[in-house]
Amino acid sequence: MTSRRLVLTRSAAVIGAASTGLLLPEIVRAQSGKVRVGFMLPYTGTFAQLGVAIENGFRLAINEQGGKLGGREIEYFKVDDESEPSKGIENANKLVQRDKVDVLVGTVHSGVQMGIQKVARDTGVLSLIPNAGVHAATRSLCAPNVFRTSFTNSQPTRALGKAMMDRGAKKAVWITWKYAAGDEAFEGFKEGYTAAGGTIIKELGLPFPQVEFQALLTEIAALKPDAVACFFAGGAAAKFIKDYAAAGLKGKIPLYGSGFLTEGVLEAAGPAADGIITTMHYSDALATERNRQFRLNYAKTFKAQPDVYGVQGYDTGLLLIQGANAVRGDLNNKAALYKAMEGATIDSPRGKWTMSKSHNPVQDMYLRVVENKENKVIGIAAKALADSGAGCKMV
Ligand code: PHB
Repeated sequence: MTSRRLVLTRSAAVIGAASTGLLLPEIVRAQSGKVRVGFMLPYTGTFAQLGVAIENGFRLAINEQGGKLGGREIEYFKVDDESEPSKGIENANKLVQRDKVDVLVGTVHSGVQMGIQKVARDTGVLSLIPNAGVHAATRSLCAPNVFRTSFTNSQPTRALGKAMMDRGAKKAVWITWKYAAGDEAFEGFKEGYTAAGGTIIKELGLPFPQVEFQALLTEIAALKPDAVACFFAGGAAAKFIKDYAAAGLKGKIPLYGSGFLTEGVLEAAGPAADGIITTMHYSDALATERNRQFRLNYAKTFKAQPDVYGVQGYDTGLLLIQGANAVRGDLNNKAALYKAMEGATIDSPRGKWTMSKSHNPVQDMYLRVVENKENKVIGIAAKALADSGAGCKMV
């Protein structure tokens, strides 16, 4: 009843505006046309499967709610960002300027995200980050129209060090790709591990997206640390796990990582992944009804098993649904839209989470171990973990 009255009032307002010659085309589109949703994700390269999982998750959330947003149909647009930072701004503008999307969903790679962040801040387009953890997006460069549904790069690794110390790993080598995600994951690891009393004896790295690990693995063997901790993701993570075992390190020097290391790669990695301990805001093995339902629907719809990226895409859909419902599809009502999204509690397969003031999830981190191609939960590594949001001023 209320919504019907609202529709009638709105049409009356539009007719009124038309008769006074004030009917702007954008207003008509915003009130009655399709919501234009743009995916800017990697569909090629080492993160290709991550992009697909995010899009799948997002579509699943929307389809479970009848395929609409706040009562409006949706039109999707797609750009393959290739995880290429130098094309970040240009690609974001394809969606924002050319396709005139109402919402930009993207992306995976932290460097590319910086391009999206610039376009989001310059144009005010609603930007939903379904993965990339670059700190600045919800710290110094935070913005009212930017919301992240994933993590900051240091969130998962902050909880890792204590778990390592608890298992007697007092001296560790860190290894990663040298770019924002790896560097910031290291920041979190260093903080947590040194606070727990651990010593980092060497930091190793290689440029993204290289996968020539051999020389670095030889160096690790020579250094003989108690453990190795790392950040890798996507296709490269599977290769790292296999190369680590092939180099004879598995079983000798325990391998730890932020949980991306073992997400979506367990089929490809096989037994080489067994025993790897990670921290992450999700586990396929979470024994909740919510997770069970999600996994079932995802598997039925896409004939594939979901991973953390699918969950993040799904939660991005859930967040947008909550916002769009609160403004009955009028995404131009930005104050009310943002307020609803800021106050949202997301009933996620990962467990319920809320938005921090700087628009990043406040969420539990699980401690997991790989057993038989599954990330088994062996504990909670951190409860309701929030990023500092340092330097964020919403203006
Ligand atoms: C990132 O670049 O921020 C990134 C990429 C892949 C991940 C996590 C973070 O799995």
